[in-house]
Amino acid sequence: MPALTTVLPLPWASSSPLPVKLCFSMRSQKLSASSSAHLIGRASRALALAATATGTASCDEQQTVQLMRHLDEDGWVEDQILPLLTPVEAAWQPADLLPSFAAPVAEQRSQVAELQARAAGVPDELLVCLVGNMVTEEGLPTYMTMANRVARGASDDSGCDGRGWARWLRGWTAEENRHGDLLNRYLYLCGRVDMRQVEKTVHHLLRGGMRMLEPSCPYHAFIYSSFQERATFVSHAHTARLAVRHGDACLAKLCGVIAADEKRHETAYTRAVSRCFEADPDGVVRALAAVMRTKVAMPGEFMADGRDENLFGHFSAVAQRAGVYSAKDYGDMVEHFVRRWGVAELEGLTDDGRRAQDYVCGLPRKIRRIEELAHDRAAQKEAQSVSFSWVFDRPVRLH
Ligand SMILES: [Fe+2]
Ligand SMILES: [Fe+2]
Repeated sequence: MPALTTVLPLPWASSSPLPVKLCFSMRSQKLSASSSAHLIGRASRALALAATATGTASCDEQQTVQLMRHLDEDGWVEDQILPLLTPVEAAWQPADLLPSFAAPVAEQRSQVAELQARAAGVPDELLVCLVGNMVTEEGLPTYMTMANRVARGASDDSGCDGRGWARWLRGWTAEENRHGDLLNRYLYLCGRVDMRQVEKTVHHLLRGGMRMLEPSCPYHAFIYSSFQERATFVSHAHTARLAVRHGDACLAKLCGVIAADEKRHETAYTRAVSRCFEADPDGVVRALAAVMRTKVAMPGEFMADGRDENLFGHFSAVAQRAGVYSAKDYGDMVEHFVRRWGVAELEGLTDDGRRAQDYVCGLPRKIRRIEELAHDRAAQKEAQSVSFSWVFDRPVRLH
């Protein structure tokens, strides 16, 4: 999905001490699960819906659709967005980064043993973060559906539309699809997690869905996606750093290449928002305020494993404590985008636009204050752990 004003260096993305070859063709089975509806915390669902209701904002559909069509037809999408996709032949694939089962049997075993030996040093808290991130990535069908529904004028109306926005959406989906595959296979091979519980969690998340952005408007969709891509970039990059610290260079490499993808995707959506700001500063600043008022919800919010009624909350707490994704990151991210899009410098706004501008520009300071208070409160709390089914019910510290 944060002020990270520069790209975090990803040295592990360009070099790996592990052999990079072969393929692992056996996909993990997606096993069936029982109904998930009752497992999604009612309280969090109610809060989410309430936040959506208070955060709605109008969108001039005719104007935004026209702008999206214009950006497509005059070649802006072709020139500025599509080059941010990697050509298929040049793109990494999960098979490039994992043990190869095309190798002789002894070599296969050696590669898997090496992966497992490195993974043995990864602490449970980092495994929990990794599983949470992987499950979130595996919710991709939901995110593609949402993007296609919300970004009116920039959607893929036929399913194989030749227009620029549609090609971007499908290309983005294809690149994202590798993220869940790669992490899923690493987790399966490492032998440290209860894969059936992990797979059930993915199943539940896809059944549970996510709350859609309101209103359906490309401004909201691009803003939300900019935050999400930066958040995932930060989260995967931090996971990679921690993996290095715990001696798993293979895991660091995997997270590093995913983070690099997220960064490219963030660039695309951020660029799209900048272009929209040029065309319609008042409409976009009001959309930005609306998205911020709902808070930028994580797409894995409705994950469930059939046991923990507050799985996403517990996963988030572990991620915060581990330094994978924290409230500070969120504050940094808001500050980054306010600066990146020049929100404070916007001129000629309506009264509503100025109110939105004031609200957004004041947010980083408010978030920092809340974060400091939360930090102080957490420091006074007694240590608390919770069992995660993902790691065979072993307890993991929340704070
Ligand atoms: Fe991703
Ligand atoms: Fe992404």
